[in-house]
Amino acid sequence: MEQGHKPFLSVRDLHTHFITDEGIVRAIDGVSFDIAAGKTLGVVGESGCGKSVTARSILRIVEHPGRIVEGEILLSNPSADPDYHGPDVPELDLVRLKADGPQMRSIRGGVISLIFQEPMTSFSPVHTIGNQITEAIRLHRRYTKQDTRDRAIALLKQVGMSRPQERLDEYPVQLSGGLRQRAMIAMALACDPSLLIADEPTTALDVTTQSQILELLRELQQENGMAIMLITHDLGVIAEMADDVVVMYLGRVVERGNVNAIFDTPKHPYTRALLRSIPSVYAPSRVMLPTISGTIPHPYNRPVGCPFHPRCPDFMPGICDTHEPQPIEVGEQETSCFLYSERGQRARAARAGERPALSAGQRIPRSERRRAATRPTADQEGDEANDDADREPASGSGGAPGGTKPPQILPHLPGFPAESRRAGPGG
Ligand SMILES: Nc1ncnc2c1ncn2[C@@H]1O[C@H](COP(=O)(O)OP(=O)(O)OP(=O)(O)O)[C@@H](O)[C@H]1O
Ligand code: SF4
Ligand SMILES: [Mg+2]
Repeated sequence: MEQGHKPFLSVRDLHTHFITDEGIVRAIDGVSFDIAAGKTLGVVGESGCGKSVTARSILRIVEHPGRIVEGEILLSNPSADPDYHGPDVPELDLVRLKADGPQMRSIRGGVISLIFQEPMTSFSPVHTIGNQITEAIRLHRRYTKQDTRDRAIALLKQVGMSRPQERLDEYPVQLSGGLRQRAMIAMALACDPSLLIADEPTTALDVTTQSQILELLRELQQENGMAIMLITHDLGVIAEMADDVVVMYLGRVVERGNVNAIFDTPKHPYTRALLRSIPSVYAPSRVMLPTISGTIPHPYNRPVGCPFHPRCPDFMPGICDTHEPQPIEVGEQETSCFLYSERGQRARAARAGERPALSAGQRIPRSERRRAATRPTADQEGDEANDDADREPASGSGGAPGGTKPPQILPHLPGFPAESRRAGPGG
């Protein structure tokens, strides 16, 4: 994490809940992170961990019945952005603004814009691409009709679309997935945002288009100096693009830090498990990738204690299932895990004295782990009979698609060799 500079955007202890008839979904449950100006923050985590709701909270577009119930989203020096129309203050808490008020409307699209997770559902199917981009420009800029059209054409050119004049008059359905994504980026860039939030911008695309889009985002960042919050499941994309990384699990940040620290010395067992599930060119061929045991619990059924404990290979009974770990600095990053707390260290030392030491990554007997879980996961139920036996692949475990082998999570594994990923700005 960059020290000393005031971040462009600072999210502090954010809580966003969906208040439904069935109960409260704590989709975001105390998230904090910073986004530095001109840098890329990668946000990673399994499906349902709260990445999109975090993005929507920042833009104040959380859909009903969701709402921010606590926390701050601090935008520093908003008046530096020509699209901001509001009082000249050194810092603005977006949570305190009216979601559909004029200040928030000037920030949304003008200062911070979003590339949605699914461009097909985000574009209106009954309006042309041109109509939608020019509308975005008109909302923030007082251009003439001709200038607005020229700007839209320039944007389509900038994102690498051929025949931009003709594209303006086409409907989203007439474009391929890659072109639609480019048009979405053009719309998000319409007013030169200072922060671009890209929510899974390449998920539905083939690898060639994916790498073109990522390259485009990198180029645009160099040209415009904008900050990017890049949300993805794909750690390969994070390694390639991010300066800093936030790892989310069940509505919380479990680890955050500089991309090199996260990949080279991951601290949280969940981060390590995620990293082990990435295919590596160094891995022996025809060996199944490790997956993360169990599934992410629904936010209704948040486990007591550490939210990861029902799935954690380093689980410490009596600690992880009774107390919530708080973020602490470990090495270059910050992590929320008792392995690094005094309480956890004491417990491990005591247990090591009682019986043969378990290395941090060794599996804890299934009976002990299950006792602590609020409810057994499908994976746990399936594995119950095989505690001490070699594990056979079991279906329904979380993690990588198609992956079925239970995890072999080891304690101090680096993610994967640094040479196998593109060197980030810091290394
Ligand atoms: N409208 C809603 N009503 C109730 N719960 C919701 C609603 N929208 C999101 N959630 C819950 O909030 C949690 C976080 O969802 P979110 O969409 O942020 O996940 P995500 O990390 O973006 O997942 P993915 O990687 O699949 O996009 C999920 O448990 C989801 O079920
Ligand atoms: S060791 Fe405990 S606190 Fe750390 S991730 Fe595992 S269950 Fe959570
Ligand atoms: Mg999402």
